[in-house]
Amino acid sequence: ADAGLDYVKSLITSHENFPIPGVLFQDAFPIFRDPVAMDIVLNRMLGLITRTSPKIDAIVGLDARGFLLGPLLSTHLHCSFVPIRKQGKLPGKCESVTYEKEYGTDVFEIQMDALKPGDKVVFVDDLIATGGTLRAATELVRKVGAEPLLATCIVGLPALEGATKVGIPVHALVPLP
Ligand code: PRP
Ligand code: HPA
Repeated sequence: ADAGLDYVKSLITSHENFPIPGVLFQDAFPIFRDPVAMDIVLNRMLGLITRTSPKIDAIVGLDARGFLLGPLLSTHLHCSFVPIRKQGKLPGKCESVTYEKEYGTDVFEIQMDALKPGDKVVFVDDLIATGGTLRAATELVRKVGAEPLLATCIVGLPALEGATKVGIPVHALVPLP
């Protein structure tokens, strides 16, 4: 039993048929309303990252909810925060990749000068479902010559087996059915 993560889990709400029919949407925003829960989430993520990857160069956050966690982690770790955004949002030269999600297709971009070749990168997002989003993020980071090490999420949906499709270790703090 893990009282801290049980508490975090208790805050997540499920919404049937959102954003499209047939999807059971897990909403992590109630965690963000609660500073005690946020402290638990951030400390678990920081512990995981420092245990598995002593030296990293950047936290890469995924549009949009990865942006809410990324800079909190990168500030503690004294490393960069780099966003991966949906197409058309980032100025300057970008690398892009098209990917499939649980409910549709999207294009992801990263600024080409955001990472240096060889940079060691940890990804953060609120949730992994099919793994398509994180898979695309690792492809983008490899395109600019950097090295994906690990991904950390608050919520995982193990029934979708997303973690097995990403190609790097993926850690979800709270698995949900
Ligand atoms: C959600 C979630 C992850 C992704 C997970 O974001 O925040 O980024 O889907 O799905 P996957 O593992 O099946 O790829 P979404 O694409 O809905 O975008 P948003 O953050 O802009 O709402
Ligand atoms: N919640 C949030 N984002 C998601 C979900 C979900 O249940 N499924 C796919 N992306």
